[in-house]
Amino acid sequence: MVNLIPIPRKHIRQNGQFVFSNETSVKSDFDMPLLNLDRCEDADIIIRQNTALEDEGYVLDITKEKIFIESKSEAGAYYALQSLRQLSRYDLGQNKVDCCFIEDAPRFKWRGLELDSSRHFWTVEQIKKFLDDMFMLKLNVFHWHLTDDQGWRLEIKKYPLLTQIGSKRKYTHINGWGCKDIINEPYEGFYSQEQIKEIIEYASARNIMIVPEVDFPAHCAAALAAYPELACRELESEVPGYFGGIIPEKVLGIKDWNRTICPGKEKTIQFVLDVIDEVCDLFPAPYFHIGGDEAPKDEWKKCPHCQKAIKDNNLKNEEDLQGWLNNCVLEHLKSKGRQLIGWNEILAAGNLDKSIIAQYWTLNRDKNVEKHIKNGGKVIMSKHQAFYFDMPYAMYPLRNTYNFKSENYNISSDAILGVEGELWTEWIDNQSRLELLMHPRIEALGEVAWSQYSKINWSDFKERLDNFKPILKQLNTNYAVDKISLPKNRYKRNKIQLKFRNGDIHLEDKLNEKYISQGEE
Ligand code: ACM
Ligand code: ZN
Repeated sequence: MVNLIPIPRKHIRQNGQFVFSNETSVKSDFDMPLLNLDRCEDADIIIRQNTALEDEGYVLDITKEKIFIESKSEAGAYYALQSLRQLSRYDLGQNKVDCCFIEDAPRFKWRGLELDSSRHFWTVEQIKKFLDDMFMLKLNVFHWHLTDDQGWRLEIKKYPLLTQIGSKRKYTHINGWGCKDIINEPYEGFYSQEQIKEIIEYASARNIMIVPEVDFPAHCAAALAAYPELACRELESEVPGYFGGIIPEKVLGIKDWNRTICPGKEKTIQFVLDVIDEVCDLFPAPYFHIGGDEAPKDEWKKCPHCQKAIKDNNLKNEEDLQGWLNNCVLEHLKSKGRQLIGWNEILAAGNLDKSIIAQYWTLNRDKNVEKHIKNGGKVIMSKHQAFYFDMPYAMYPLRNTYNFKSENYNISSDAILGVEGELWTEWIDNQSRLELLMHPRIEALGEVAWSQYSKINWSDFKERLDNFKPILKQLNTNYAVDKISLPKNRYKRNKIQLKFRNGDIHLEDKLNEKYISQGEE
């Protein structure tokens, strides 16, 4: 067994050990600003460029006397060092590493992790730690959910009210979907454009591309609190603190909290394009995520502007109105060299341009995704049951992530850009809980995303994971342990198990946090 996550393509054990000292020197063909490189000719660790290798791949040859690294790119060289870091148990203060020869390269180009900064806000320092965790596991796409109903978190200079009003809410829904509890405390936060640039630079140095998600036409309530004229009906509203579910809508009679923008109004289209312009000026990634999920169409059906747009553009229905909006956005993004990504619901529009990238998250089979692939379209796989990392382990055990296979969902792995884990933060309000739900799921994700499918082996992974956990501990990173420790009290235990079965997981979480949060299966 090789002590490395994700498991490399090829690993050959060799005799002997390389011993590190304070004098161990490193020389590289790449700039590698994260390292202190030595100028000497005869270094102990020698990093050479080899353009014949795969983009992010590397060769790592650890001999008794020297360590040789070859890679095509700086990213590959860093990944070789990440492997060396794990193999040598550097974080645990070990000064030796067993000699071996490794050839490695990723399976998928898109190895993503999403974080929701809207429902709960994460500081610049917390985001950097998140990126460090990604880097360690060779994940390379940070999908950053920056706007939603419950908070607009990104400074847009042309529309200052987005943050002046849209980044603040007066209360926060707690305890899970199905609960009506709230905390009556103001909550706010946003990233200045300077902070965004700082984070992009930090990520880029670690081979992580940041793909911004700014949601249209739904999940926009915070923007509508700031600019009510962008909606079909110009209702005065506050930034909602509810995260949805049956209680706010049906029991408390709270309506109109998850409204959409009005695609029939010229000023709304202008707003969308203006925001995209500023976001594209900030984020260099060639992708832009517009969300597009869970867009109710009821207001559009009654809105004269929307109905006129449908008529003027010869559209069939409201679904195609969303398709039309997305096509406008897509053309604009194309002119800026960006590809549009949206959640798989956007494929319901019959008129949508085929060049969009769909992110497949819904629990159930979506034949539109299969059709999209048949037409040559691209997909990122984030199926709920495998990649919704905000769900408790009692609902989705670690194995769901590790054993993910796109073919089980009628999607050939050749047709996908890659895989991505999702961390929605409705019920995650602190870093410790965030890490608990991330680890060891992102270790499993790292392996699914990077390693050859033939190397996927649950029991081997579990052994390597046990060896990896002391590193997480040393890094002060929280993680879930193997077993749910159910309480001794029989009544309580039965109650918990019943709730597991019913899938009433978030209430469960609140009531029995200390049991559930420890468990992975
Ligand atoms: C989603 O979870 N609504 C993308
Ligand atoms: Zn409208």
